[in-house]
Amino acid sequence: MTTLTGTPLAPLLARLFKEADAATSPAIARYSREERTRLIHSKTEYRQFYGSLKDLWLAVSPETGTLLYMLARSSGARIIVEFGTSFGISTLYLAAALRDNGGGRLITTEFEPSKVVRAKSNLTEGGLIDLVEIREGDALETLSKDLPDRIDLLLLDGAKALYPEILSLVESRLRPGALVIADNADFSPEYLERVRAPAGGYMSTPFGDDVELSMRLN
Ligand SMILES: C[S@@+](CC[C@H](N)C(=O)[O-])C[C@H]1O[C@@H](n2cnc3c(N)ncnc32)[C@H](O)[C@@H]1O
Repeated sequence: MTTLTGTPLAPLLARLFKEADAATSPAIARYSREERTRLIHSKTEYRQFYGSLKDLWLAVSPETGTLLYMLARSSGARIIVEFGTSFGISTLYLAAALRDNGGGRLITTEFEPSKVVRAKSNLTEGGLIDLVEIREGDALETLSKDLPDRIDLLLLDGAKALYPEILSLVESRLRPGALVIADNADFSPEYLERVRAPAGGYMSTPFGDDVELSMRLN
């Protein structure tokens, strides 16, 4: 039995995914497809965009969650940074891996105060809050200071257009062999170009439908 497959986490995740599926937001209908695409690619209007969608969970899929757990377990991760907490679903998977690795620290960040409250409550219910520090605010600010010297795994799942900037904030702390998992990275061509560049310092490959999986080389 693992933390992920045991109680309370497995039934909690099953319930949270149901709640996530049922969540709606009147704001989403206000955006045309073109406007949504424009906002997803914007480096300046992300706050307004995600703020208008604050009732939506926008969570990783259960498959991606399981992948996160497996990658964190198999790499023996002890120090994890996450960009984009939302209601804490991906955080639960990663914190479960930390618990099963013998403990560690997960720094995650979210600018929507109501989401931070819900994420804290979900992590408490999952018995994992002791491993997690939620930094409330814009990741460009919250991840610009007080990071651990050595980071084993980075999950990018906030505003897609900021993936290159967030990587730059964390990059010098990534240990050789550290994993960087970027969800829906197709929305950030600039990020993909950077991690796939032959001399960019990463080995990188698309994985499944949604994920770009990269490994820091040195
Ligand atoms: C795709 S959702 C994250 C889903 C979460 N990882 C999960 O699997 O449950 C993206 C979240 O990032 C937050 N976000 C976007 N840009 C941000 C930023 N610059 N700083 C902090 N949070 C941000 C949004 O409010 C949203 O809740």
